Amino acid sequence: MNLKTAYEPYFKIGAAISRFNLQTPANTRLLLDQFNSFTCENDMKPMYYIDVETIKKDPAKYDLEPALKFDVAKPYLEFAKKAGIPMRGHTLVWHNQTPKCFFHEEYDEEKPLVGRDKMLARLENYIKGVLTFVQTEYPGVIYAWDVVNEAIDEGDFRKSVWIDTIGRDFVMKAFEFARKYADPGVALFYNDYETAQEWKRDLIISEILKPLMEKGLVDGMGMQSHLLMDHPNPDTYRTALEMYGALGLQVQITELDLHNADPGEESMHALAERYAAFFEIYLNAKKSGKANITCVTFWNLLDENSWLSNFRKETSYPLLFKGKSEAKEAYYAVLEKAVPKESIDKWEPGYPDSEYEVKW
Ligand code: GLA
Repeated sequence: MNLKTAYEPYFKIGAAISRFNLQTPANTRLLLDQFNSFTCENDMKPMYYIDVETIKKDPAKYDLEPALKFDVAKPYLEFAKKAGIPMRGHTLVWHNQTPKCFFHEEYDEEKPLVGRDKMLARLENYIKGVLTFVQTEYPGVIYAWDVVNEAIDEGDFRKSVWIDTIGRDFVMKAFEFARKYADPGVALFYNDYETAQEWKRDLIISEILKPLMEKGLVDGMGMQSHLLMDHPNPDTYRTALEMYGALGLQVQITELDLHNADPGEESMHALAERYAAFFEIYLNAKKSGKANITCVTFWNLLDENSWLSNFRKETSYPLLFKGKSEAKEAYYAVLEKAVPKESIDKWEPGYPDSEYEVKW
């Protein structure tokens, strides 16, 4: 038994991976053995596509059509194509991890921000370029894109250079362009964090999802779901999930992890129970038709590789696997929600030690 088989009747189970994971054979084996979707943790963010070095050599030439590069994304796309594992594209438009110069006249941060028309042209050509490359070279590999990430903050649209250049409709425009250039069948998502908070949930629905739905531009809502042991409350989370689901969109849990800084047995048991509670919510929502969940993605494979230790400034033990692909109690708890206990065997990866060496 494995995660992808146990959840096959309901939704895909994914994981985010980094370059380190991609180049560690035991990690890619774990991914392929247990998961049937993956996301690049970082390497398909705007800063890796926008080719600042080339642009700077001749800014006038690239004024409306930014030069793009795919050297960082390619190894993941190659891997996905060869291994036959589908990918989520993450992410096209974000306020973070995007070169600052992208928003300025002559791509020079010292010069003023460009006006709306020029930024719209840059945005359209950037989205066109990324989607065309991926769909031409790797057709069918990416089945869903996070078109816009994290546009809502502090009770409104987040203050960002996207707003300063284009205005509040940058979200609508990004989706218009994504729809225009995405292959049919590629699902377009809005993705955000803390999506169960009531004010944020309501704004996402009224200001982002509904206007996009009126124009047929969005297919799904991405709930990142970086959870804590005591937040959010599962009922609040379920309510939000069902409200997104009630819109008729797909819902994907795009970045699931559960921060826990205590690796002791009791604490890891509590982690397992909390994961079980959330998977019960996911399964119930799917089975009852209250939310069409199509994928649940964990934010990395192993505790040791989680971004949380860095972000929370304390070692975190937030995932289902650790060390040499060993399954934690939480792994079994998640499986037990979907399949009978008798059908679950002990997970023994048995990968040779040599496969854990990173070959850069
Ligand atoms: C956000 C982003 C992700 C990633 C995480 C931290 O959730 O959407 O891409 O940067 O933060 O790893």
